[in-house]
Amino acid sequence: MMKHKYAVVGTGGRIPMFIDPIAGLYRDTSELVGLCDLSATRRRWHLQRLIREYGIDPIPDYAAEDFDVMLKERRPDTVIVCVPDYLHHDYIVRSLEFGANVISEKPLTIDAEKFAVIDAAVRRTGRSVRTTFNYRWAPGASKVRQLIASGAIGTVKHIDFEYMLNTSHGADYFRRWHSYKKFSGGLLVHKATHHFDLINWWIDAIPETVFAMGNLVFYGKENAVARGQEALTRYPRYTGVPESEGDPFRMNLEGDPTLKALYRDAESDSGYLRDENVFRDGITIEDSMSATVRYRTGAMLSYSLNAYCPCEGFRVSISGDAGRLEYAERHAAHIITGDRELKIEPNASRGASLRLQNLFSDPQEIPVHMPESGHGGADPLIQEQIFSANPPPEHLGRNAGHEQGAASLLVGAAANHSMKIGAPVRITDLFNLRPECQRLSQLI
Ligand SMILES: NC(=O)c1ccc[n+]([C@@H]2O[C@H](COP(=O)([O-])OP(=O)(O)OC[C@H]3O[C@@H](n4cnc5c(N)ncnc54)[C@H](O)[C@@H]3O)[C@@H](O)[C@H]2O)c1
Repeated sequence: MMKHKYAVVGTGGRIPMFIDPIAGLYRDTSELVGLCDLSATRRRWHLQRLIREYGIDPIPDYAAEDFDVMLKERRPDTVIVCVPDYLHHDYIVRSLEFGANVISEKPLTIDAEKFAVIDAAVRRTGRSVRTTFNYRWAPGASKVRQLIASGAIGTVKHIDFEYMLNTSHGADYFRRWHSYKKFSGGLLVHKATHHFDLINWWIDAIPETVFAMGNLVFYGKENAVARGQEALTRYPRYTGVPESEGDPFRMNLEGDPTLKALYRDAESDSGYLRDENVFRDGITIEDSMSATVRYRTGAMLSYSLNAYCPCEGFRVSISGDAGRLEYAERHAAHIITGDRELKIEPNASRGASLRLQNLFSDPQEIPVHMPESGHGGADPLIQEQIFSANPPPEHLGRNAGHEQGAASLLVGAAANHSMKIGAPVRITDLFNLRPECQRLSQLI
């Protein structure tokens, strides 16, 4: 049997999600044929790791400027795009033009203009782009979809969604490329694309109008100084800076072998600093955001995201004309132990709860099992769907193409625009995403 050939671009922190199953569990049907990254240290570290851990044969690795050479020489069937968000469109389009299909990490891209370029390339080439919305595959999220699709709460009219990022995970977006809007689109694109996608998919609706507000209220130099924490702003980064020891936001790249190998040892060939001070000047994204969204079906969403919370997770209430669902996940608290070592998550605080209440009825608790691994058990399921020769039939519509990728990123893009002009923004004014459709499931 011919193996499906994969090449990857972007060999940073996320890429094991794809290359490990190709080299391991799905090796009988899949083959990794090339790795591309601007850092030779990073791409070779992953390659050596795969050789060591899975016994794969050595394969060529390519510098960023040789991406097209990789395509010509290695002739992948599918290219996996895992570079910083603002670069996705460029590598997606070049892969499609070559004749490969694409798997792109979320967000598909960061604004409507770049999405238009992807959309045109899909139409021109007839190739496909999958957006890896792994959150859809988490057991709790899937259960919510099942219940709504079965009519358990009638027609959905209103959603209230609050997401909390803690001072470990949330802070991490302020240490590197994510902290610049031109690279990540800000958290309303980079992070909220997961949340807007869940909502679009849960209620099977396409978003129409967005009004958003946001601000940088916690990270950044000015905020720390205003809180009397000027001492935390005195160094540009953490690693190798004795003065930063004891700083609860410190990240020590030398304290973790993977961080050291991937980022510290690669500083000289990529210039990428993974541990910049979260209380420095120049951050251009928000850490506190609210958005109101109206859907083409008439449903309304009230959304909020904060990136400096003591704990992490989300809660969502979905109201329909026959009842209401309340779903909450607690992921991790960020606490600091007595020896000042950062600790994420005492296990006892993790969990999920799902409650269904119909009009004029008692509430029912519905059990949800939340596995420890891979984004609450989501990653192994989407990997099976992507890489298995015979993936289990998918009845929940969890596979997403480029249009469904756009339906969520365009909410964030419209939110960015709305924050700029101080007024609601119609998504169709940014990109006319199949104006004849109301339902997400009508999109590719
Ligand atoms: N679905 C999820 O849960 C999830 C989780 C984490 C990251 N992601 C996504 O995965 C993608 C990668 O994130 P990450 O955490 O691995 O980031 P990262 O910074 O660790 O890695 C990015 C890699 O891209 C490389 N790169 C940068 N510019 C390049 C260029 N011009 N050409 C080639 N390579 C280049 C960097 O050298 C680096 O190795 C992002 O789009 C992110 O949104 C998704």
